[in-house]
Amino acid sequence: MVLSTGLSKFKAAVFISGTGSNLKSLIRFSKTKKSPISISLIVTNNSKAKGLDFANTYKIKKKIYNFKKKKLAEKKILLELKKNKIQIICLAGFMKILSKSFINNFKGKILNIHPSLLPKYKGLNTHQRALDKKEKYSGCTVHYVTSKLDSGKIILQTQVKIDKKDTPKSLAKKILKQEHKLYPKALLKIFSL
Ligand code: GAR
Repeated sequence: MVLSTGLSKFKAAVFISGTGSNLKSLIRFSKTKKSPISISLIVTNNSKAKGLDFANTYKIKKKIYNFKKKKLAEKKILLELKKNKIQIICLAGFMKILSKSFINNFKGKILNIHPSLLPKYKGLNTHQRALDKKEKYSGCTVHYVTSKLDSGKIILQTQVKIDKKDTPKSLAKKILKQEHKLYPKALLKIFSL
């Protein structure tokens, strides 16, 4: 992605479903001078997402959509994205699968973070599966989103060593810490190309 005169930042929307710790790290990053993005919209499918608190703290517009009617939700989201002149979408713990047609509307402009060393362990329960396979390393990946789950081009990865005593919970915690550094780095990478 080519860019940046340094005068204005790209307008981003962050999609969340839960705690929003990646959202928090992205917001903090977006406020630094070197950040190529500013965050002007937070989207969620979950009205109880803890991460929505950050919308209040940092005074960022938030929108909640009911994905029981996915087609309608996506239609409304697209309108909202347009209204807010959003140029890039960062999925950050967003646990719904976006339709092909939604993705095509933002082709090459949707990123996701996933808690494994893709292409290994796509989908859910990544930590348990990595432990079951007695992997020595796991990690996290930022990648472009395509209509194939967790399969778009990889932007950056960080490896995390698995210890013998790791549980899914302890591993998730170690990886999450790295995710908070990786997402900003991935944004810097794609916007400096
Ligand atoms: C993160 O570990 C993220 O990689 C993962 O959910 C967690 C969200 O944490 N995403 C996925 O599993 C997507 N397939 P957060 O809400 O604290 O950012």
